[in-house]
Amino acid sequence: MSQEFLNFVSIQLSRENKISLYVQLYDALRELIINGKLSHGYLLPPVRKLAAYLQVNPGTVVSAYKLLEQNGYIFSRSGSGSYVAEISGDSEDNCQPPALEAEFEAVVPKAVVPHNCLDFATVMPPPDLLPIDDFKSVLIEVLDRDQGNAFSYQDSQGFLPLRQSIARYLKDQGVRAQADNVQIISGAQQGIDIVAKSLLNYGDYVFTENPTYPGAIAAFRSRGAKIIEINMENDGMDIRELETKIRTFRPKLIYVMANIQNPTGYSYSIAKRNRLIGLARRYNAMILEDDYISELDVSNVPLAPLKALDRDQRVIYLKSFSKIFMPGLRLAFLLMPPSVATRVMASKHNSDISTSGLTQRAFDLYLRKGIWLQHIAAIRRIYLERYQTTLAAIEQFVPPTVTCHRPRGGLTCWLALPEGVSARQVVAEAEAQGLLLTPGTAFFPRQAPDRFIRLSFAVAGSAQILQGIKLLGEIIARFCLPSTAK
Ligand SMILES: Cc1ncc(COP(=O)(O)O)c(C=O)c1O
Repeated sequence: MSQEFLNFVSIQLSRENKISLYVQLYDALRELIINGKLSHGYLLPPVRKLAAYLQVNPGTVVSAYKLLEQNGYIFSRSGSGSYVAEISGDSEDNCQPPALEAEFEAVVPKAVVPHNCLDFATVMPPPDLLPIDDFKSVLIEVLDRDQGNAFSYQDSQGFLPLRQSIARYLKDQGVRAQADNVQIISGAQQGIDIVAKSLLNYGDYVFTENPTYPGAIAAFRSRGAKIIEINMENDGMDIRELETKIRTFRPKLIYVMANIQNPTGYSYSIAKRNRLIGLARRYNAMILEDDYISELDVSNVPLAPLKALDRDQRVIYLKSFSKIFMPGLRLAFLLMPPSVATRVMASKHNSDISTSGLTQRAFDLYLRKGIWLQHIAAIRRIYLERYQTTLAAIEQFVPPTVTCHRPRGGLTCWLALPEGVSARQVVAEAEAQGLLLTPGTAFFPRQAPDRFIRLSFAVAGSAQILQGIKLLGEIIARFCLPSTAK
């Protein structure tokens, strides 16, 4: 055998396999690159030569090279061929990617924010907005009522009265639900993790939005799943890209935030919701809908969850209470299609047996007494004011070359800086001046563009919002000046 192909002897392509030949070749080459068998700078064989060696059509090699290039594994130089790129820690397949884990930490709210800082990074209600007195009263009522039972092992699926209350709450949101299909979990992060454990095996494909919530990427990677991103547009995923990739990769799971996506704030149009569900049906993928904030949709016609359109039980609905209630309670739930319920319940049990019974009982009373709805109405009023102040301040103080999509609500804005201005540098400079922000790079699984900033108005009051955004506008304006003028 020619020396030239020694590196490729392990490649076995099968025409019997359901997966297209070019995806098989893509997988095999990617494996060689990740394992270091083809190192940075290695010149790949010309298309025709590799095609002849593997006895496939040259088009198969062209498509595999194209996909490798799209996913950052190789780069081409016109006239001289395709080379292996430098694979950093944030490559899609690295199960313990140090870069991404560090980024994940960057978006997990800091327990302690330095004094005198203007905090536009934290995305959770500040302690002074938490309804402590109301919660204290339901806790006391539960303790009087249930005594020691509140502290015994709880049913792993969750406290039945709470599951019933949640099913009722969902019906009011337009989602058909029964207590039997509700699984109480200890936070949405656990929900993503147990869905990943239930559905994904090593090497399975999972689709995510690009950008997306880094905690989900970390959970999928921990299963050894392969992540394929679909670019976000301001009305949802790029459906053409989804269609091409779903045909190619046949993912088991598609992870989406249909309402007020984290980090972009984009929400899916009705047409895209229907297309997404239709494509998932056609290619037999499950959808994990992460609804972390839809209660803070302050538009005139709030959107129902994607789950409300799910006619054939394909959407696993995940709801967190962290961003709208008390993150430290560690309380969330999954609404499970029957096809996955047994696996999800087993994974939950294996994970932590059950979510705190005391918390579940107290939250159930909170829902039943209608205090929850009062709380949501109260925080909506507060956040509507912060939302309006933030958007107005951006309009007034931030250079017009910075674009900011108007989200339907939520707690954050997504700023796109002009070409050539580094978001990381702006964030670092802002931090040096006491203004905390999150660089957008934290939310891209790979090949993160350095031009986005997520700005949270969850913690800052109106006066701080005005002060902070004015300062941010000045910092960005300086970075926009030609280098000699800075
Ligand atoms: C989109 C999204 N999903 C899930 C989570 C995790 O939420 P929880 O605190 O309920 O685990 C977060 C937290 O930031 C989030 O932003």
